[in-house]
Amino acid sequence: MAFPEQRLRRLRRTERLRDMVRETSLAPADLIAPLFVKEGAGRPLPIAAMPGQMQHTASSLVEECGALAEAGVPGVMLFGIPARKDDAGSAAWDPEGIVQHTLRRVRAEAGERLVLIADLCLCEYTSHGHCGIVKEGAVDNDATLGAYARIALSYAEAGADLIAPSGMMDGQVRMIRRTLDAAGHAGVGILAYAAKYASVFFEPFRHAAENAPRFGDRRGYQLDPANGAEAVREARLDIEEGADIVMVKPALPYLDVLARVKAAYGMPTAAYHVSGEYAMLKAAAANGWLNETAAMLEVLTAIRRAGADLILTYFARAAAERLRGG
Ligand code: PBG
Ligand code: ZN
Repeated sequence: MAFPEQRLRRLRRTERLRDMVRETSLAPADLIAPLFVKEGAGRPLPIAAMPGQMQHTASSLVEECGALAEAGVPGVMLFGIPARKDDAGSAAWDPEGIVQHTLRRVRAEAGERLVLIADLCLCEYTSHGHCGIVKEGAVDNDATLGAYARIALSYAEAGADLIAPSGMMDGQVRMIRRTLDAAGHAGVGILAYAAKYASVFFEPFRHAAENAPRFGDRRGYQLDPANGAEAVREARLDIEEGADIVMVKPALPYLDVLARVKAAYGMPTAAYHVSGEYAMLKAAAANGWLNETAAMLEVLTAIRRAGADLILTYFARAAAERLRGG
């Protein structure tokens, strides 16, 4: 027998052969675009640390949603920046709040062409910038759950298809599920930020969402980057509490966690390719150090390969347009 007996290169010889044996696909339908909407903004404001991304007005966000739907992106996730913040974050559950208002506008324009996801947290709405109600210098878990319930209800009433609690409070998924069901919103789903790490890669987002904590940090509620088994437990609890989709965040530094969560539960699983991951690629590409399109597609494909059914990414529109263009 000739040596080598196994020649894996045979199936890499031509484009058609490579297409034929490719294990992982990447399509616009796998992508969700996170979008920011700022109350009182007179025009869309570019976010310096996230080139190409904006703090939208409700109108410019509606327009962006049209382009995303056109490119085949099936869903958007909204983050609101309110005009006023207070200790309780009360603007978050205002029925006329910026996210509620924008949800209604997008629904009126896009109908059922887009899945509307509302990120649910308090950090954009509290004057201290923490994800929950602060008592004696610390975020009080159970006091926060009541606020989350009110916010969830107002987002469902404004037409959200999915509520995405990102505050990492214990019991948040069950609290939201019960509240929605009791109010006749059994059809509204929960995309749970199940394993959200206390990550440095959220830094650019804090400029975009104006949600940086004014004191301390989020390590009292977000996961320690050193822990993997704990992330699997977080996912299990969220599933038991009624999550429809579980998410791991950030993506690239946590692909092992993503693979474990997908393998353990076989749930619809999302990964959030976060602001810092986006900013790194943009910065390298702007310097001519990386081919942006190639890097974007490689990264998104790798996240899919690791187990993500869905990817939340600021590259959603660019990637979808590229994938559509062939
Ligand atoms: C806040 C929130 C954060 C992100 C989504 N929701 C950041 C934080 O915890 O401060 C990060 C998203 C990104 O970096 O793209 N609940
Ligand atoms: Zn938060």
